[in-house]
Amino acid sequence: MKASQPYQPLLFRILHGVTGVSLILAILTAYWTYDTYDGRWGRIPLPTYREIEGIHGTFGLYTLLIFPVFVIYAFHRGQKRLVQSDSLAKLTQIGTPIWWYTLNRWMNTLALLALTLALLSGKMVDSEWLPRGELNHAWYYTHLISWVVMVVAIALHLLFNAKVGGMPLLLSVWSRQVREKDSPAHWSAHTAKWWFAVQQGAWKTWFQPMTVPILLELFMLLTIVMAWVLSSI
Ligand code: HEM
Ligand code: HEM
Repeated sequence: MKASQPYQPLLFRILHGVTGVSLILAILTAYWTYDTYDGRWGRIPLPTYREIEGIHGTFGLYTLLIFPVFVIYAFHRGQKRLVQSDSLAKLTQIGTPIWWYTLNRWMNTLALLALTLALLSGKMVDSEWLPRGELNHAWYYTHLISWVVMVVAIALHLLFNAKVGGMPLLLSVWSRQVREKDSPAHWSAHTAKWWFAVQQGAWKTWFQPMTVPILLELFMLLTIVMAWVLSSI
């Protein structure tokens, strides 16, 4: 690989990849579920397949499980690719390269927010509603809207990344090349070092200072915790 080509850290590629693939499968099976049970805004039509609801729930669940880990990664190691405290000011420099980079960071952050909404509403949908023909629950409508929001968010995410880095950047998230210093062989040493720092009290500053990105991270993590708690009540 040429040195000028973008390189993504392995941990980012794993977390972003698992989230992305699970989510895309959830989106596709979601459409099929809508086509089978609902269809009020039009149909393709796909074959009626009643088991698709459970399959969708499974891919949704995979996304839900990996999402908090990706959020923690994105707001700490990947922080530079999300909104920063000066991101609002930079939005005024319309058309300049920094404007596109800032827009891209906003979009990455908005994609995480959109996914938070899709996951929360999905957890609140009862799997019995559609088989019983109950199509008017508020959480079901919220979940349907979150599908549209998510599709638009991914489309813009791809567009902005294509604008700032072209095809090489888009393909870099799927590359299988691993640099020596990024090798999983070092992960146990990194984990031991991290754990030692936690024991020394590093956790006290995890959510400090309370910047906008940290508040967003807390909001997303607490929403996911709430989704599990509320849906089990
Ligand atoms: C389907 C194919 C996808 C491609 C080709 C793609 C592409 C990319 C690229 C190239 C970057 C890195 C940008 C950089 O180096 O500055 C990135 C980051 C990111 N992507 Fe995607 N993406 C995809 C799907 C998704 C999906 C489905 C989500 C859902 C939320 C997502 C959320 C994010 C986030 C939050 C970041 C920033 C992560 C960080 O802060 O470290 N991506 N994506
Ligand atoms: C971005 C799009 C979507 C995502 C990420 C998503 C995600 C989820 C998640 C996480 C669950 C909970 C699974 C569980 O508790 O085990 C779920 C359940 C569900 N979703 Fe979605 N969903 C999306 C779109 C849709 C759409 C458009 C429909 C329309 C039919 C739909 C129908 C359902 C139904 C009926 C359930 C309950 C079934 C079950 O829990 O097995 N979803 N979804």
